[in-house]
Amino acid sequence: MRRKVIAGNWKMNMLPNEAINFIEELAPLVKDTKNEVVLCMPYTDLFYALLTAQNTNIKIGAQNMHFEETGAYTGEISGKMLKSINVEYVIIGHSERRQYFNETDETVNKKVKAAFQYGLKPIVCVGETLEQREAGQTEEIITKQTELALKGLTENQVENTIIAYEPIWAIGTGKTATKEDANHSIKSIRNKIAQIYGQTVANGVIIQYGGSVKSTNAKELFEMSDIDGGLVGGASLKADEFSKIVKFEN
Ligand code: PGA
Repeated sequence: MRRKVIAGNWKMNMLPNEAINFIEELAPLVKDTKNEVVLCMPYTDLFYALLTAQNTNIKIGAQNMHFEETGAYTGEISGKMLKSINVEYVIIGHSERRQYFNETDETVNKKVKAAFQYGLKPIVCVGETLEQREAGQTEEIITKQTELALKGLTENQVENTIIAYEPIWAIGTGKTATKEDANHSIKSIRNKIAQIYGQTVANGVIIQYGGSVKSTNAKELFEMSDIDGGLVGGASLKADEFSKIVKFEN
């Protein structure tokens, strides 16, 4: 049985004191869950969050990284830097980064490889635009993005990659994919991984759904056969609401 991983994506929100308060409020609410709890936050929060989350079951992630280790890349943060303060997860290739910051399938692939090189666990985002969906290209787009993101990884690395299927039209819009639709898309991603790396590897890969997940729809989505939890944006900014998503079974 695959575990469920519920990851918050705070995006460009939360000051360090807010991050500390959030974790102090969340920790007792989720301490007994068997699901994995991750919070991905701005770089400026990471160090404070890591200290606050010590001795809790809350794991901390960044939202991006550069693929090089060091060098003349003004404004960038490397995997080695994240690892040096014990960051555990890193989101790679979020659609907002693809859309506004020139992230491509090629840079996503380089970053995923670098994440493994420095011992970070990547959460790789894939997803189609509304236009692509309406043109019937969803499966083609998301399976291609997946294939390119994972290119050159070992089977073991693929098995330890988390994929977040996030239809772009569902992000921050209040529109969610139906549970059947989301499950179908996620199955097509899993089938593609099976084709390339074998069924055993594919069966082990955690594939999340993301896009307007909230406490009122988490249960029906996360109970589907192939949906292994979620990547949660807006609804991860309130500890009480996020805790209900983490404990969706209740
Ligand atoms: P949302 O964002 O939950 O606010 O739709 C999800 C995401 O962008 O990861």
